[in-house]
Amino acid sequence: MKFFIDTANLDQIREARDLGILDGVTTNPSLMAKEGITGKENIIKHYQAICELVKGDVSAEVIATDFEGIVREGEELAALAPNIVVKVPMIKEGIKAIKYFSDHKIATNCTLVFSAGQAILAAKAGATYLSPFIGRIDDTNWDGMQLIAEIAEIFSLQGFETQILAASIRNSMHIVSAAKAGADVVTCPLPAILGLLKHPLTDIGLAQFLADHKKANS
Ligand code: G3P
Repeated sequence: MKFFIDTANLDQIREARDLGILDGVTTNPSLMAKEGITGKENIIKHYQAICELVKGDVSAEVIATDFEGIVREGEELAALAPNIVVKVPMIKEGIKAIKYFSDHKIATNCTLVFSAGQAILAAKAGATYLSPFIGRIDDTNWDGMQLIAEIAEIFSLQGFETQILAASIRNSMHIVSAAKAGADVVTCPLPAILGLLKHPLTDIGLAQFLADHKKANS
């Protein structure tokens, strides 16, 4: 399973990259706004800065919602760096654009996926990745992980090659559950990744090892 970080914060991207386990980055307009990145020129510079930090795939989301606009914006984004993946919303015009990008060998991430039917359509259009939003499904009292498992089963039966990118991950257990459910990729906030490190028995065990070593060597 690939690990992406879900942020536009350069320090957090650097910290995850330096762990040595980072395969890519996902962003969205809300995450860019959170970092105060506004205006086309700054947004483009910021994507370039992210692509310089990380060799793996970097999802950059279009703002347009009409076919021509999505294609125009997507082609501009794709030209920024070879590792840009054009993130396209799960709407009718988005599906048309994903098919266009797939025919033109431009990688895509179909975002805002909340059902197996949407996942089938995105895969059929040739999306490279599709992003079911786990946390937001859980927020509505449904089971986000069940959707990952359902899509994984369908894709395996049907031989779809689109990678399932579990998004809207909120905590470390979401990462473990996504791995069990068959996600190809998880995109996570940094605290959820770092949370995987934590176990009190690890801390207790290490303190004991160091204390025993000190005693024996003093
Ligand atoms: O990857 C999608 C993600 O950024 C949305 O997360 O927590 O806003 O639902 P959240």
